[in-house]
Amino acid sequence: KITHIDAIEVLDSRGNPTVEAVLRLEDGSEGRAITPSGASTGMHEAVELRDGDPHRYGGKGVQKAVGHVRREISGAVLGKDPGDQRAFDHLLCELDETPNKSQLGANATLAVSIAYARATAASRKMPLYQHLGGDDAVILPVPCLNVINGGRHADNTVDFQEFKIVPHDAESFAESIRMGEEVFHALRKLLQEHGLSTGVGDEGGFAPNLHSNEQAIELIVAAIKSAGYQPGEQVSLALDPAASEMWHHGRYRFFKSTQSERESAAMIALWDDWLQRYPIVLLEDPLSEHDWEGWAQLTQDLGDRVELVGDDIFCTNPELLKRGIREGVANSILIKPNQIGTVTETLDCVQQAKAAGYGCYVSHRSGETEDTFIADLVVAIGCGHIKTGSGCRGERTAKFNRLLRIEHELGPRARFAGRSAFMR
Ligand code: PGA
Ligand code: ZN
Repeated sequence: KITHIDAIEVLDSRGNPTVEAVLRLEDGSEGRAITPSGASTGMHEAVELRDGDPHRYGGKGVQKAVGHVRREISGAVLGKDPGDQRAFDHLLCELDETPNKSQLGANATLAVSIAYARATAASRKMPLYQHLGGDDAVILPVPCLNVINGGRHADNTVDFQEFKIVPHDAESFAESIRMGEEVFHALRKLLQEHGLSTGVGDEGGFAPNLHSNEQAIELIVAAIKSAGYQPGEQVSLALDPAASEMWHHGRYRFFKSTQSERESAAMIALWDDWLQRYPIVLLEDPLSEHDWEGWAQLTQDLGDRVELVGDDIFCTNPELLKRGIREGVANSILIKPNQIGTVTETLDCVQQAKAAGYGCYVSHRSGETEDTFIADLVVAIGCGHIKTGSGCRGERTAKFNRLLRIEHELGPRARFAGRSAFMR
């Protein structure tokens, strides 16, 4: 039975307000959770409810969403035993009555949904990953560290949003994260030597002004070598250009550098060329959410050479994923719980992807908090790779630290995913 439920406005890593929910059960078990917030959001994401009152937080307040937890959601669940996670989340969806959580706000529903998962895990005296994933939840992911930030996540000249390093050739998560951090620090040194800025962007990656997007790759490859690793053998690359942000009247505009534009086919040619020249194992959002045709072509051309992850085009949404599977779009999906708004719908989307032979790649948002839910989630579903920022900033390292604790707790049962987590 739920004996207490409440919410307050707290802050995310950009200093914007977000929703924290807390929920208690009759036996005293408690769960608390905070919803993250994106910047380069997909157009079909569940609604993040903001107050729009210009006198508070520039319109970004979340008092309405907080109020929905305290009144509507509390009214529906307080004093009741809603049953398992699926039954609880079903109740939230029924209460909302819209397909995109626009009534209650996905920032309200997700915080409550995760809080319930934590409270029930505590009541079962189980770690969250085991509560959600069962006894098979023993696979630790390869961390993909976003070491150079551009696009909408930084005020620099780099068009593409994320340049990530993938330390896959390790025996354990702990070893993998050490390798990643060593490359991150080698990159800092390299940037200093080149007289480039070592200030960081929203996700903790460096955000220097560079003369091209390719220079970011070249610097990272040099950093991998200077840290003592072989590019492609021990540490590879992954990119999220967040190409929806570049979409401009049916073409791709390099909006922060040259202002030049490319057709969809020319973008595919660019990725083909980069795959030949650089050790890239994963491309996320290499094309826009508006460009379904281009995506299908890209998947046909490059899908057997690299993991192609749909973020904006799928929005962790089962209906959009269904269309993608039908039309041969991508071979993997990004999993961001706040794009859909409950734990159960997130897990259902993962099941659907797995059944179709698609990979799953768990992700934070650019606006994060100290909440570590996605660390438990990635172990629960065993999909073997996660992106949760660069090698610094507390809201990013909180997830790494949670994964280090999980690995330690699992002891000899823990398995590190390694390179096989990346499709093909
Ligand atoms: P966002 O960025 O959280 O700002 O959407 C992350 C991503 O695009 O993957
Ligand atoms: Zn993305």
